[in-house]
Amino acid sequence: MLYKTPARNRRRISTRMSEALCDSVCRQNTWRTMMNVMNTDTLKYLKCPVCHAEGLRRDDNAVKCVNSHAFNVARQGYIDLLLKAGKRPEGDSLAMVEARARFLASGTYAPIADLICRTAIPHLRSLSVPTPVCLDLGGGTGYYLDALRLCFKSQNITPSSILGDVSIYAARRAARILTDTLVVRMDTWQQIPLVGSSVDVGIIVFAPRNAIEIARVMRDTGRLLVVTPAEDHLAGVMKLFGVVGQESNKREHLLNSLSPYFHSVESNRLRYEVTLTRDQALDVLSMGPNARHIDIEDVRSKLHALNAIVTLVDVYLDSFAPNL
Ligand SMILES: C[S@@+](CC[C@H](N)C(=O)[O-])C[C@H]1O[C@@H](n2cnc3c(N)ncnc32)[C@H](O)[C@@H]1O
Ligand SMILES: [Zn+2]
Repeated sequence: MLYKTPARNRRRISTRMSEALCDSVCRQNTWRTMMNVMNTDTLKYLKCPVCHAEGLRRDDNAVKCVNSHAFNVARQGYIDLLLKAGKRPEGDSLAMVEARARFLASGTYAPIADLICRTAIPHLRSLSVPTPVCLDLGGGTGYYLDALRLCFKSQNITPSSILGDVSIYAARRAARILTDTLVVRMDTWQQIPLVGSSVDVGIIVFAPRNAIEIARVMRDTGRLLVVTPAEDHLAGVMKLFGVVGQESNKREHLLNSLSPYFHSVESNRLRYEVTLTRDQALDVLSMGPNARHIDIEDVRSKLHALNAIVTLVDVYLDSFAPNL
């Protein structure tokens, strides 16, 4: 499908996610206010990562399970459910998170957010659940979950939303923006600290997928929406800088890894051309998996000679239902 960006939506989403808004939200909300707006009702869907007791409760600057295991609520409002022991992946660095936030604020990926909304809404309407639970795993800055919450609101649906990410920088940023969402620092390769059969809509956008755990937390009637890059995704940028492009079997790998637990119910390929400024091209390289391997100064000097970079956004959105 060749998709044209609706300018109105692009503007709205990019505006919501802009640095300016983020800063103004942070200025307006003191730490105490953020703690108050934390959706404590949604805490019932969390699970203690130590003793696996279901449901957590607020207790001053912490959340606790029935067995009194306590987890810090950070100043920015996210809950840290990462276990102290064992190997803990770091997730995205501060520079990657900042580059991602700037790039997403440009609206270049707004059609992806729109497609996620257009896929999720009919399913939710068919369920008629009064407060559906939405989960964004590896949710980063919260861009897609925020867009989804906006769409729900326009349909008079008020979800309980949870964003999980292992990166402290992503968690900080998401918690500052999504003040009525539970932002939880978690390692999704471990046991996801959520009660089983609780999630109505799960989204995973360019992020890791632990199939067996995702299957455990999804309701039988739930939908899992997964965005993966297709073969030509950002090919124009990658070619220019000699960066390895997308593995052609990424989606095949996705389908294989999910197939013991989920079956595909809908699949869309979204392809559209974008013209990136030099800064956007730099950000898109700096926010992704190539960030750790590229020489930013070299990229910067190559970009200097260019006015703009034309490339394709090329992704799959696959929608899955649990195998019963
Ligand atoms: C490519 S970014 C995508 C972020 C977001 N979904 C988006 O598209 O804007 C991948 C995200 O997954 C997170 N991540 C990586 N490994 C993780 C893990 N084991 N558990 C939780 N999050 C993880 C990273 O910190 C990062 O925010
Ligand atoms: Zn516990």
